[in-house]
Amino acid sequence: MAPPIGFVSTREDAAARVAYLFSETVLSVQPNLKAAPVVGFQHALDRMVHDKVRGIVAKRGTFPSVYSVRYNADPFLTAVEELGKTTFVSITAASSTLPAAITHLAKLAKFPVVVHVSMSRDFADYSEITCLRQLGFTLIQSFSLREAQDLAIASHVLAIRTGKGVIHFFHQPDCEETPIPFEDVNQIDKIFDRKALVNGEAEGSTVSGVVAEKPAVEEAATENTNGEQANDTVDLTKVDYKTAGLFQAAEAVFDLMRLANGRTYKAFDYHGAGSADTALLIFGSSAQNFITTIDHAGRGDIYSKVGVITVRIYRPWSTEKLLAVIPRSVKRLGVLEQVHRQTTKWGPVLLDVISSLNNDLSIAAAIPVVVGYQLGYLNSKTIRQGLRGIIQNIQSEAPIQNLLVGCRASHDVDPEYHLTLPELETAYSKMLYNIFGDRLSILNAIDRDDTGIPQTITSNPGYGFGAYLAKEEKKKELVSKLQKAINENAFTNQETNDLVSRWLLLNEDSSKLSEVGAEVISKLESDSSEIASELLNDQAFLLGTSSWIIGSDAWSYDLGTSGVHDVIASGKNVNVLIIDSQPYTGRTAKDASRRKKDIGLYAMNYSNSYVASIAVYSSYTQALQAFIEADEFTGPSIIIAYLPYNEETDSALTVLQETKKAVDSGYWPLYRWDPRPDESGLPNFQLDSQALKKELKDFLERENHLSQVARRVPVFDENVAGSYGSKLRIQQRKKAKDAYSKLLEGLTGPPLTILFASDGGNAENLAKRLQRRAKGRGLGAVVMAMDDFPVEDLGAEENLVIVTSTAGQGKFPQNGRNFWDAVKSSADLDLASVNYAVFGLGDSHYWPRKQDKVYYNKPSKDLNHILEILGAKRMVELGLGNDQDPDGYQSAYPVWETELWKALGVDGIGAVIDEPPPLTNEDIKIQSNYLRGTIVEGLNDESTGAISASDSQVAKFHGAYLQDDRDIREQRKANGLEPAYYFMIRVRMPAGVSTPAQWLAIDQIADYKGNHTFKITTRGTFQLHGVIKKKLKPAIKAINVALLDTIAACGDANRNLLCAGLPYNNALHKELASYARDISEYLLPTMTAYHEIWLTDDNDEKKLVAGNAVVNFEPLYGAAYLPRKLKIAIAMPPYNEVDVFAHDVGLIAIVNEGGKLTGFNVVAGGGMGTTHNNKTTYPRTGSILGYVKKEDVVVVCEKIMLFQRDNGDRKDRKHARLQYTIDRMGVDVFRQKVEELLGFKFEEERAFRFESNIDQFGWVKDERGLNHFTMFVENGRIEDTPEFRMKTGLREIALAMKAEAEFRLTGNQHVILSNIAEEDLPEVKRLLAEYKIDNMQYSGLRLSSSACVAFPTCGVAMAESERYLPIFISKLESYLEELGLRHDSVVMRMTGCPNGCTRPWLAEVAMVGKAYGAYNLMLGSDYVGQRLNKLYRSAVNEEQALQLLKPLFKRWALEREEGEHFGDFLIRAGVIKPTLDGKNFHDDVAEEDEE
Ligand SMILES: Cc1cc2nc3c(=O)[nH]c(=O)nc-3n(C[C@H](O)[C@H](O)[C@H](O)COP(=O)(O)O)c2cc1C
Ligand code: SF4
Repeated sequence: MAPPIGFVSTREDAAARVAYLFSETVLSVQPNLKAAPVVGFQHALDRMVHDKVRGIVAKRGTFPSVYSVRYNADPFLTAVEELGKTTFVSITAASSTLPAAITHLAKLAKFPVVVHVSMSRDFADYSEITCLRQLGFTLIQSFSLREAQDLAIASHVLAIRTGKGVIHFFHQPDCEETPIPFEDVNQIDKIFDRKALVNGEAEGSTVSGVVAEKPAVEEAATENTNGEQANDTVDLTKVDYKTAGLFQAAEAVFDLMRLANGRTYKAFDYHGAGSADTALLIFGSSAQNFITTIDHAGRGDIYSKVGVITVRIYRPWSTEKLLAVIPRSVKRLGVLEQVHRQTTKWGPVLLDVISSLNNDLSIAAAIPVVVGYQLGYLNSKTIRQGLRGIIQNIQSEAPIQNLLVGCRASHDVDPEYHLTLPELETAYSKMLYNIFGDRLSILNAIDRDDTGIPQTITSNPGYGFGAYLAKEEKKKELVSKLQKAINENAFTNQETNDLVSRWLLLNEDSSKLSEVGAEVISKLESDSSEIASELLNDQAFLLGTSSWIIGSDAWSYDLGTSGVHDVIASGKNVNVLIIDSQPYTGRTAKDASRRKKDIGLYAMNYSNSYVASIAVYSSYTQALQAFIEADEFTGPSIIIAYLPYNEETDSALTVLQETKKAVDSGYWPLYRWDPRPDESGLPNFQLDSQALKKELKDFLERENHLSQVARRVPVFDENVAGSYGSKLRIQQRKKAKDAYSKLLEGLTGPPLTILFASDGGNAENLAKRLQRRAKGRGLGAVVMAMDDFPVEDLGAEENLVIVTSTAGQGKFPQNGRNFWDAVKSSADLDLASVNYAVFGLGDSHYWPRKQDKVYYNKPSKDLNHILEILGAKRMVELGLGNDQDPDGYQSAYPVWETELWKALGVDGIGAVIDEPPPLTNEDIKIQSNYLRGTIVEGLNDESTGAISASDSQVAKFHGAYLQDDRDIREQRKANGLEPAYYFMIRVRMPAGVSTPAQWLAIDQIADYKGNHTFKITTRGTFQLHGVIKKKLKPAIKAINVALLDTIAACGDANRNLLCAGLPYNNALHKELASYARDISEYLLPTMTAYHEIWLTDDNDEKKLVAGNAVVNFEPLYGAAYLPRKLKIAIAMPPYNEVDVFAHDVGLIAIVNEGGKLTGFNVVAGGGMGTTHNNKTTYPRTGSILGYVKKEDVVVVCEKIMLFQRDNGDRKDRKHARLQYTIDRMGVDVFRQKVEELLGFKFEEERAFRFESNIDQFGWVKDERGLNHFTMFVENGRIEDTPEFRMKTGLREIALAMKAEAEFRLTGNQHVILSNIAEEDLPEVKRLLAEYKIDNMQYSGLRLSSSACVAFPTCGVAMAESERYLPIFISKLESYLEELGLRHDSVVMRMTGCPNGCTRPWLAEVAMVGKAYGAYNLMLGSDYVGQRLNKLYRSAVNEEQALQLLKPLFKRWALEREEGEHFGDFLIRAGVIKPTLDGKNFHDDVAEEDEE
């Protein structure tokens, strides 16, 4: 359980926090992912980094750096190197990592380094501590959470004061400890003079700015200080650390600690009766258990009077202090040392004790019996028995020395060193298996069973290479046998002879052998010669294996000995795959450049190897190509593959985000290198990503390759080279500052700086308007985003105004976060001469629960407070704009602004304010010259990946949406780069019918112009993502070449026509689809601009369009088009998978008894888009207007559109959809108006009945005997992953399909493979099975689910959706299985925001994103798409959602009536009220606002 905020609950947390505060650099040594202990350190460190906590010793203006280094990457060497640059270095590590680091530790001991060590949790081996006893460290042990915190502080203070290293170790118990508050800074101040540190004059310290040049404490003093005398008469708080011994220094710090917090710590503690005759000194993790057991001993227990001694300061060892704690009554002393394997006759602690006793002969004589024990594993049940054994032995006449108490370590192999292939890393081996199948030979598989050889060896590349050589020998034997057989004509069959000869010719190229090898095998099987049957024993070689050695990046630390070098130097035809799992975020930049060798560069320098750098979560296709090329290359191939993760439990989403950051920044470039010369005579280098890291760039320059590569890569970002980040940020700020100074020039009047932070534009618009008005009053006003302002210049401002809105859960908007972080941690900012005012925008009900009220307008309140603390003078009281006020934030604003003018002394000025009205979407459309805008100019502008804001509105009409990759937005901003802009392209494809050729075209466009995936959308069409500006025109052109277009796929016009898929009735589908096409064509904008912009040829000469006449005329739409989008869908009962009631116009097909289409019931006014907390917006199900004959349906659509064109609300886009037009006037009036335009009346609606709004998966035959397969495509995403190659599979199917076959895209984002003739069925089924696309064994919940795209591409997403819903469903599935609900369908939908792209309001369960990780949980739709759901709980996280849903599913399982669906049950059970009309959507919600 997580501790309360401001508390720590583990010793690791406590120590890690202190380490961070007292360091400039913290190295967090990562054990194997499965070992728990260090994870504790890491979490606390991550938290502090994330919260940008200031350190105590970090230099002004800097934060402590935290680097995580894997245990197998020689982490302590990094610490040694770090000391060259920084003074205060600390390390957090598991004890098991220490012995291997002794040589480095010996060096570290001479510096003020603190190592916090967590003993192994299972059964700690204290020899990992005792082996450090000679190194010169002070070794301090703590025994509780409180102690861990205190002694961590003491360790750092001691290290700083003495200039020497301290190791602080402890055992982290399994049980939970009562959380304690974070370290108390006031207390720290009492024992550590921070000011002195800053001035380099810490009192009594050896520290001169701050560390002694040479160790101040005499070396001798660090040796076993048996003879050391602590002078009791000395006031320890006044110790002169320059001359004191280490032990005395440690005691002095403990004393300061006592004065500061009243807690006393001593070198040794004695627990038990003062009259004990037997005492046990325990050096191990179960000391506390012993004490408790003795405390609870019964009178008769043999150990009831035994005392226990524990060791707190293990080094320097103080004889005097030890002897002082042993009661005079003690006659027998046992020394228990917890070690896994005793390697010396006497334990080191026993030797210390004996030596101490011998120091005072009188005591030695008083304690004649001293017995050493090996303390084995004892649990709470066996400890009593163990104690009895110990005491019986020590009290016997001839005690046995070195007796083992308890059993040997429960785990002989430390889990940290147990080799297992982490689950995630299997991604690459799965790919290899998919590509090479039976040909794949992994030479050093971790799970390989090579009897008798330890895993550590079999997993090594050297071992793999040895295995390869052995195989090569065997293959040579086979080759000579084959040759001999041919020479001797030994085969009975001439064909065998011929084939074997062919095989021998190809033999060197194993990638070509598989086919001929298979034939050879089949011939050998029918060949009756003796040699044939002998040769069949070596079948595997005949097939030509693809040999791979797989290893981790640990091999790159020492290329010479790792075996990688041998492979490269050998020139053999073997492939090496090296997986680097170092997360980008936690990377040790220095480590990577200085010591971890770049194997790729190393191999390229060798010039004989194929080399590739890949990252499967960035580009599956590139990885695939690299594997195939490596296999085809005869010679060594080295593939370095990225797969970053922190923990094995990291979700694929985390891995994906880390990968993207690494590739985008150039830290992990994607490339392929073939040493064979290309036409220019140079090796072939192909850069597959955008940015390069410096080393690679240097290499290419040396190789004279840069010029060639540069041609292929649009921009080489200098940013990615060298010390990137900080330098850029400075430049960026400087730029902003210069621009700002420029702005100030020429401005008169008192200055006013207005800074804003805004996600959605409200605060920004307000700030900009304020600037205009200020200028009108003669003020020299400038306005900019908070993050663009250099915080260090804040003190020079005269008048400062801040306008900030509030983002997810009280956070600052994105463009204000850096500013806020800098301000809140700038203790040295002096704002005494600054006047300020703050206006905040928020929503008091955004988070309705009581405990969340603190989030209301939090950023503005926080800023208002801190500016005052920093000395600024408040001109005006904080203004709070609230979305809940009658006019939203505009209600409170005027009052605040008036006060501001007064404060600035410009209120009396009758300002003439030239305030142009803001540019609205309506203006943009009208001014765009029939949708041309300046798109062409924008496309040609190479200085940015974006187009202008108004052009991006216009581009929507062309089907292109400007987006950016939100996964890397923050990182790019930090690096001074603009967002990674790209476009989403949506295709217009009425009725969602694609030919196989069109499918293949989209597949190709996605690969070559997009991000290698595409999506089936809820409008039953294709959507491509990740198309960069340069590729936008070629992509749209290619779509047109495939006889598709993108016109009005987005924008304020009629969108793609959605139509039922209808696999069971071909004739009806054809007819409905043709209506869909007719309506779509009829309502298509004329849009000459489309052809001008996208379809011109290479010389940019216009294509001939409509006789080359420029048609600037939109007969239907006019220059302003529609107020908003118009969506039309056609449904065929009983299936409502298009959700016909969710669209502006819904057409329900009506057939007569003979099954012939007669006409449609027309539904109007459906809509799904809403805005959180804005009750004037709501989803609506369409109203039935009546029935029309089929031949009238196009004109009906036209008239509805025209009416909406003229009557829709063009002032407020939130109310511009048809649904609000209809609700404003009432359905009857609306119907009448449309009828007037039509010139005839709607007929009475015809009866219809829907059964469901999900897809009907599986195979069906239509009336002509043709086959159709509705397949499940999770959330419509067509992509390849190592586990599931759906995209490749569907491409193969498209290639195998006949021309009359179709892909029908459904409104639930699935695909129907249609019109498959009987004779083609076996092949299609075979391919479906091969690629596992025919799998329908998903849960009913998953099959009925859908999610919108949201992150990372959708610009308005507030929460994850497509990437998260599958994970969320997995968390419910096992529970549903338990309840017997596995196969029950429940319609579940998720969206990243309330725009409602996947029609969430018509799902039985929906989660609608409210902020990252928080969703509104909606319940209670029916199963057929006719009843809206309702809010059940707002802003729930995953855990809460699961907690809420599980009991409801349970009740449904137990209480439902026959055939009753989940949503209906919830209504009947009274869990949620039904929403019968959109206007009641916000009424009677289950959760009312808590005031
Ligand atoms: C995702 C999201 C989270 C929000 N969280 C809060 C919040 O925690 N506290 C608050 O007072 N307002 C919150 N709001 C309300 C906004 O601050 C408010 O609507 C403001 O006008 C938005 O201004 P902007 O367009 O400048 O970003 C939130 C709004 C959104 C969209
Ligand atoms: S519902 Fe919102 S988050 Fe999801 S794709 Fe649509 S606009 Fe984006």
